[in-house]
Amino acid sequence: FGEQQQESNITRFIIASNRLPITFERNVDYDPSKPDSGEKWHFKESSGGLIAGVKGITIPYTWIGWLGQGSGSLSDEEKIELTKAVKQKFGYTPVFIPDDIANLYYNVFSNQVLWPISHYLQFTQSAQNGTSWDAYCQANRAFADAISAVYEEGDAVWVHDYQLYMVPHYLRQQSSTVPIGFFLHIPFPSSELFRTLPQRYQLIDSLLDCNLVGFHTHDYRQHFVSTAQRIILDARAEGESIISRGRQTSCQAVPIGIDPTVWNAHLENPTVQKLIEKLKHDFAGVKLVIGCDRVDYTKGLPLKIKIIDQLLTTHKELHGKFVLFQIGIPSRMDVKEYQELTDELHKLIGEVNGKFGTIDWTPIHYIGRPVKQDELAAYYAVSDACLVTSVRDGMNLVALEYVCCQKDHHGALVLSEFAGARFLLSGSYTINPFDIENSAETLNLALSEVGKKASEKHLNNYKIVTLTNTAEEWGLRFAQLLLDSIKDSFFHLNE
Ligand code: F6P
Repeated sequence: FGEQQQESNITRFIIASNRLPITFERNVDYDPSKPDSGEKWHFKESSGGLIAGVKGITIPYTWIGWLGQGSGSLSDEEKIELTKAVKQKFGYTPVFIPDDIANLYYNVFSNQVLWPISHYLQFTQSAQNGTSWDAYCQANRAFADAISAVYEEGDAVWVHDYQLYMVPHYLRQQSSTVPIGFFLHIPFPSSELFRTLPQRYQLIDSLLDCNLVGFHTHDYRQHFVSTAQRIILDARAEGESIISRGRQTSCQAVPIGIDPTVWNAHLENPTVQKLIEKLKHDFAGVKLVIGCDRVDYTKGLPLKIKIIDQLLTTHKELHGKFVLFQIGIPSRMDVKEYQELTDELHKLIGEVNGKFGTIDWTPIHYIGRPVKQDELAAYYAVSDACLVTSVRDGMNLVALEYVCCQKDHHGALVLSEFAGARFLLSGSYTINPFDIENSAETLNLALSEVGKKASEKHLNNYKIVTLTNTAEEWGLRFAQLLLDSIKDSFFHLNE
């Protein structure tokens, strides 16, 4: 890094996130002597809220991230080849982390320590050990090194999510002036929970090395500000910032959005339109409810199935006339809790289908794998309601995607009050998913109001999702706040 003076504009972001938006596979048929055997590496697009948000940013960026398990055990020569292929095809830069370190960094410290704590769960104390923390730091240092290797004069660094909490610390060791923004895609929990982490000081101190830290909601921001003041002795809140050791860190709520143009294009695709017509025909007279979640204990999937059980128990008139279409995307299957949840979910779905189903009616249609985005657009478009039952969720972009695809139908969004989207989408039917009876009744009410009151509510949400809170807006707002924070801290340091 050169010691640069702050520009009045950000010409390029260096985006750093744990995962790149692609995964790789070795082409087993590849033979360099046979030109028709294809290329050595195959790539698939990966999905997720973070990726959807970043892809919608209109400010130029370059992206740095990990390619997943297996990438760390490639030979040096293959790493060079793969880096070249990823750069040429996509313009991204892969970070290589040895597989054993990646396991401790990703599966253990990120997903068995930070992830549950951030979602108000704390069942994996044993994972909180020195070895996984050391690996977490080692991986974060590798990211910081990769960032400084691609850095060009005028760049600003935008670090994403809890897997990379320590990256600002390692970057600041290399440059006191490089602009650093950080965005957290998950909730920031109450200080009462965060302060139980043995590494609380290092984690917060690293975030205070940023010029700007962004969150989805004011609540998460507030939790962060009070945690910082409790943990860092000299930290004090001043206006929208925290001041500590001569550093000024702006803390802001900047809710993420989606790119409506992507979903609108799917809806206009003739193949998608055909599928929509087919689904309308196949499910005529049936109230369709869509759910699409990573199979993660934060998504409240067992509660969702219990809500459907309750609905069908109390509303017999829905028998044969209601279907929950649930997509469950397998996730983090190396972690025990995720394997157990998958088994529990399959069992619960089987029980409900067994209890209510008939030879010509299955109440829950379950797909346990990712579906293509255009296909998902069709499912969203034909559904009378979308049911989100998260027990904690940073934002929940499924809620936004559903609203976007309801352009014509104006279906109801039934949304957990524990998802960040609840603060954004005021035209929703909110539920406390732990209150199963009430949630079932709210879902029933929402379904009965489709075409009436649900339409008014939808239009309110639609405006937010497609106009005022898009991914493009999110990127522009973040960039502007980062610029403002740099100016503020410059003045502060020179006071
Ligand atoms: O939003 C939280 C998050 O962990 C993102 O960082 C990630 O893109 C997404 O969930 C999916 O998680 P993973 O990369 O662990 O599959």
